[in-house]
Amino acid sequence: MANQLPPVWRDRLSPLVLLSNNLISRIGVVLVTTATVFWLFLLPSYLSGHAGTAYIGIVLYLLLPGIFFAGLLIIPTGIYLFHRRLGPGSPLRAAIGISVLSWANQEFRRLLTFVAAATFANIVIAANLTYRAVDYMDSVQFCGPTCHVVMKPEFTAYQNSPHSKVECTKCHIGPGASWFVQSKLSGLRQVFAVAFNTYERPVATPIANLRPARETCEGCHWPDRYGGDRLKIIPHFGDDGTATKSVLLMHIGGGNVAGAGIHSKHVGAGIRVRYGHSDRARQNIPYVEYSLNGAKREFFAANTTQADVAKLQMREMDCVDCHNRPSHTMETPERALDRVMASGEVDAKLAGVRKVAMEVLKRPYPSSAEAEKEIPTAILRAFPGAAKSAQGVLSAWQRNVFPDMKVTWGTYINNLGHNDFPGCFRCHDEKHATADGKSKIGQDCNACHSLLAMEEAKPKILQDLGVE
Ligand code: HEC
Ligand code: HEC
Ligand code: HEC
Ligand code: HEC
Ligand code: HEC
Repeated sequence: MANQLPPVWRDRLSPLVLLSNNLISRIGVVLVTTATVFWLFLLPSYLSGHAGTAYIGIVLYLLLPGIFFAGLLIIPTGIYLFHRRLGPGSPLRAAIGISVLSWANQEFRRLLTFVAAATFANIVIAANLTYRAVDYMDSVQFCGPTCHVVMKPEFTAYQNSPHSKVECTKCHIGPGASWFVQSKLSGLRQVFAVAFNTYERPVATPIANLRPARETCEGCHWPDRYGGDRLKIIPHFGDDGTATKSVLLMHIGGGNVAGAGIHSKHVGAGIRVRYGHSDRARQNIPYVEYSLNGAKREFFAANTTQADVAKLQMREMDCVDCHNRPSHTMETPERALDRVMASGEVDAKLAGVRKVAMEVLKRPYPSSAEAEKEIPTAILRAFPGAAKSAQGVLSAWQRNVFPDMKVTWGTYINNLGHNDFPGCFRCHDEKHATADGKSKIGQDCNACHSLLAMEEAKPKILQDLGVE
């Protein structure tokens, strides 16, 4: 075919002949062009948001670029192998005129110019694609829906959390190149685990190698700044449907050592808290070491000796030892029902609805499909016509239970508090004492909060404040 082209074009195209005169390189060329064509066709539908599936991002930003660059690598490999086989006396070399590898040789110059231009174009494409791939892998879209079965519990809980506009990677990776690389490596392992269906169900928590929270959380929250007291109003409902409220004034406290309060005492300037735990979940804490500007005090649980401490796993306390579910908080059935009843999704006026709903919520269901059928039916059977409430109860279940991931009520505990799980009382139990017994980690009800009302129908404090 080259013979039919005008001579000037034949000269210009001669490097291409070199590229495609062997099978391996030809496969490379096919891969590169196929990937490019697919990419160009898929991109518009993805950008316009009409792509039907979340997986298209993987194809667009990971799979196709992978094929593209694999193709690019295969082409020179093919040329090299082919010409090595032909040896120096290759008739083809002579035909193309590249037998003399010198700058004076016009054919050789032409080939180099071609390679240089192609390389420049590829670097531009590669830079652009790498940027997009990285950006894409950091997106909530990639963490949540793409990996939909595995991350569904976290993604669902995340969507109406205070962090719903904070990308997953802001907490899970944070700034800096080395954590970025580390996360991509472990990410690769996770992609394989998903592809081969070998991932753990549920995803185990606490995460063993989570980046120290002070490096991530403090990018946005500065403990010195988040201080003072904060009013907390918690809605509750009795079995008979009466609405009550608990009102607490949380003594959050800033990071200033001189100040009192929760943050000041654990993450304040000059303070370092280390603890020893005997279980993976960090719930059993027999030993706590508290140092303030280097002055150390040690607290031991009852019957714990120095020798026992050596067997414990040590950990330095940071934000996530209290805020272990800052974004994807799972609820207990009681709290889930309190929430949907307070919002009106479930009608609190239906006599006895809470008791029935609680029993229905706590039943085990083998699959989400089963629950989506059974839960509304059971509510409607007890309260005919209460379609909205039936959906409300179901939504409380869907927000917290994920049979595919073996996540159910209580799978993920919350350490912030002490009513639902041990939480603060893992240490604050009046039983952790210094060796001389003089000092204990206390449980004074007013040290952490002032209890302004406990499950009262009409808390006086709220009326005084004019909130009710
Ligand atoms: C505000 C910070 C923050 C954000 C945002 C965040 N996470 Fe987390 N995530 C955490 C912390 C802290 C833990 C648990 C740490 C521990 O207990 O070791 C965690 C744990 C997890 C776990 C382990 C299983 C579990 O539930 O404990 C998964 C999976 C997870 N997160 C996925 C996600 C996904 C997906 C997103 C985005 C949709 C996300 N996270 C957003 C902070 C965050
Ligand atoms: C990229 C920024 C960013 C990062 C990183 C981040 N947060 Fe936040 N955080 C926010 C925003 C924004 C809010 C919502 C503030 C609001 O609604 O007033 C918030 C709210 C909170 C709240 C208050 C929740 C409430 O009930 O009002 C807590 C507690 C919190 N974050 C803890 C953490 C912890 C712990 C980490 C680290 C694991 C973390 N955050 C990481 C941005 C961030
Ligand atoms: C000893 C446990 C503990 C530690 C450690 C801790 N916090 Fe808190 N934090 C709390 C409690 C308790 C509250 C109040 C929660 C509430 O009001 O529901 C709180 C509240 C907050 C709030 C909301 C403040 C507001 O004014 O609304 C933010 C933000 C926050 N913490 C961030 C952090 C960050 C960042 C760190 C790590 C540097 C951290 N916390 C370490 C227990 C802790
Ligand atoms: C790992 C153990 C540990 C956990 C968990 C823990 N604390 Fe503490 N806390 C301590 C130690 C140790 C002290 C210092 C006791 C002392 O100074 O005698 C302390 C002191 C305090 C103080 C000051 C008490 C006072 O009387 O001045 C407050 C307030 C506090 N913690 C709140 C909390 C809250 C809220 C939580 C749960 C969200 C919590 N702590 C969880 C170990 C812990
Ligand atoms: C070490 C700190 C600490 C101590 C000591 C403490 N609390 Fe709390 N308490 C908390 C935290 C943190 C919360 C959770 C606030 C939230 O929901 O964010 C809480 C929540 C509560 C609630 C609200 C429960 C709800 O959901 O309605 C009540 C009631 C309560 N505490 C009572 C007590 C009583 C009674 C004592 C004394 C025996 C006590 N607390 C001692 C830290 C403490």
